[in-house]
Amino acid sequence: MPNKGKQILAVWGSPSSGKTVTAVKIARELSLNRKNVAVVFCDGVCPALPTVLKTKKPVEGSLGEVLSAPSVTQELILKNCVCPAKNPYISFLGYKAGENVFTYADYAKERAVDLLVLLRHVADCVVVDCASSLTDSILSTAALEVADAVLRLGSCDLKGVSYFMSSLPLIADRRFKPEKHIKVLSNVKSRQDSGGYENAYGGVSYKLPHVDDIEEQFYSLSLLDGLPGKEAKEYEFVIREIAEGVFGNG
Ligand SMILES: Nc1ncnc2c1ncn2[C@@H]1O[C@H](COP(=O)(O)OP(=O)(O)OP(=O)(O)O)[C@@H](O)[C@H]1O
Ligand SMILES: [Mg+2]
Repeated sequence: MPNKGKQILAVWGSPSSGKTVTAVKIARELSLNRKNVAVVFCDGVCPALPTVLKTKKPVEGSLGEVLSAPSVTQELILKNCVCPAKNPYISFLGYKAGENVFTYADYAKERAVDLLVLLRHVADCVVVDCASSLTDSILSTAALEVADAVLRLGSCDLKGVSYFMSSLPLIADRRFKPEKHIKVLSNVKSRQDSGGYENAYGGVSYKLPHVDDIEEQFYSLSLLDGLPGKEAKEYEFVIREIAEGVFGNG
């Protein structure tokens, strides 16, 4: 049964598990159903915008401008969103190339929550690409608390297992509801015996297969394009299932 009314999805997980790719692919899927989607890229250590957005003009807006402002307004959010040329339904909000932790003043959790609350008014759906390192990103931690659903991506390797052993205790508090996370085994290669990792993660709801063309798209900044081939069908099916399950998209 689709959960109608859910609006904010936080995509969180182990380093390099595919959080950014998955967030963008879910946004694309939602946009195919004419939903206006805001994708927020939280990572301030390695900004994601320059890794996903193909643009000729220099990017003007930044998530940093929004979070460091005295107060967050819808106008300020819209001013700092960047729209990919090919998809009018999608807006990106993230740190720009070259920015780092010293570019903007610190912000408090309240500011992060204000942003997430206001984003509900700005877009039909909000997808938050969280940073793996929660201690480096107040916005990511706030998203894990405030989001209507959290997609927890685990990579199919021991690094992923080790990551969650260390990071889950950071969000053990009841307000994070970790038991409600939708667990995904991500970037699963066909030759991999993924069963051991499924068990290590305490079972998963979805498996996202590795698709060579996704890597190609990642390196050519074209993740908003569709994927050719049979291999990709399964991947797109899982993305569709997640979008429908979370947002009632369909
Ligand atoms: N399903 C997939 N098939 C093939 N390649 C994938 C898939 N998912 C992710 N990748 C590749 O894995 C790499 C990491 O993906 P991505 O940057 O989305 O991970 P991340 O979790 O956002 O990383 P970080 O922790 O650095 O933010 C990229 O090269 C991407 O193309
Ligand atoms: Mg990322």
